Amino acid sequence: MRVFVTGGAGFIGSHTLVQLLRDNAQVTVFDNYTNSSPEALKRVRRLGQSDLTAVEGDICDTGALKTALEEARPDAVIHFAGLKAVGESAEKPLAYYQNNITGSLALLEAMDSVGCRRIVFSSSATVYDPHEQPPFTEEHRLGAINPYGRTKQFVEDIIRDWAAANTETSAAILRYFNPVGAHASGDIGEDPVGIPNNLVPYISRVAGGSLAQLQVFGGDYDTRDGTGERDYIHVEDLASAHLAALKHAMKTTGSETFNIGTGQGTTVLEMLKAFEKAAGRSIPYRITDRRPGDVAKSVADVSKATRVLGWQAQYTVDDMCSSAWNWQSRNPNGYDNAE
Ligand code: NAD
Ligand code: UD1
Repeated sequence: MRVFVTGGAGFIGSHTLVQLLRDNAQVTVFDNYTNSSPEALKRVRRLGQSDLTAVEGDICDTGALKTALEEARPDAVIHFAGLKAVGESAEKPLAYYQNNITGSLALLEAMDSVGCRRIVFSSSATVYDPHEQPPFTEEHRLGAINPYGRTKQFVEDIIRDWAAANTETSAAILRYFNPVGAHASGDIGEDPVGIPNNLVPYISRVAGGSLAQLQVFGGDYDTRDGTGERDYIHVEDLASAHLAALKHAMKTTGSETFNIGTGQGTTVLEMLKAFEKAAGRSIPYRITDRRPGDVAKSVADVSKATRVLGWQAQYTVDDMCSSAWNWQSRNPNGYDNAE
């Protein structure tokens, strides 16, 4: 199968590429490296034991996209490319709407121009109305509360409309919960620019010694220990969900939305303890005020993905922490200074 992967050099993309290559897919990556490094693709080729074509380009550049798609003639597209920092999206909303929405429109147009009608799209649990009670099924009310989340909600609708307009189209919209962890080799992983916003990358840096202390945002939530509870999913499980979604999209038409998580919640303090165990050291922390916009609990109902895709998460929270720590300790500067 020929697969065109936007944003393939990023965190989730790189892990998915390794599995695609191992599955004998012919892969073209289209990425402008705005939040990633070509070094990740070098390592992907090694881990995937196969070559791929890498095209440097911006998804907002329709001409460049069309040229790349004409060359690749893919059976399907996996669309990871996008900006993803919630805080930044509130500061630069237009950049987010431009990149994530205009870029997705350009991609669908370019796909039309080469007759490619199958897509797997990276959406997010952030589209759910945070006032609803978890676990969230795909039917829960939507209501993103920041520009980033709204770009995902809009693009979901655009893809559904695009799919509805042609009976040969197939779209799988994946709503990821909280992706963490790294490839077992420790060669690829999450490499955030600057100080991480997300919990596990932050804990990794504290454990590695480059940050002093974790701030636990809120100790008075209505959860087991008062700290925020999330559905963390190992990036390797997330990658295999893409292969399952791709295979489903190849044999069906229409659009389907799937939650991709484990269905299990873990609190901040539970994650901290699991990471301490994985790293074999204690991690300093302090409980501070709640972070604005956070909810007490976000957990997926994953029964649809299990039923329809035949996919289920395999890895535990301990696996997530040990793989994240392996990546962090082998690559303290991420892909920077790599040979
Ligand atoms: P990432 O930033 O590591 O990867 C995104 C990739 O897209 C990067 O390689 C970046 O360079 C590329 N990119 C961005 N804008 C581009 C453009 N205009 N043209 C070409 N390439 C562009 O992020 P990730 O964590 O791998 O996330 C992948 C997708 O999944 C994103 O769409 C993100 O919004 C979504 N998602 C991520 C999470 C998460 O926690 N990581 C959760 C839910 C959804
Ligand atoms: C965040 C995004 C969400 C995105 C998701 C992807 C926000 C409001 N939401 O979700 O849109 O889809 O990342 O992974 O940013 N925490 C701390 N200290 C820290 C960092 C986090 O205590 O330094 C806590 C948070 O309060 C939360 C939990 O850890 O309870 C997880 O936080 P994080 O990793 O940022 O993910 P989300 O907030 O769930």
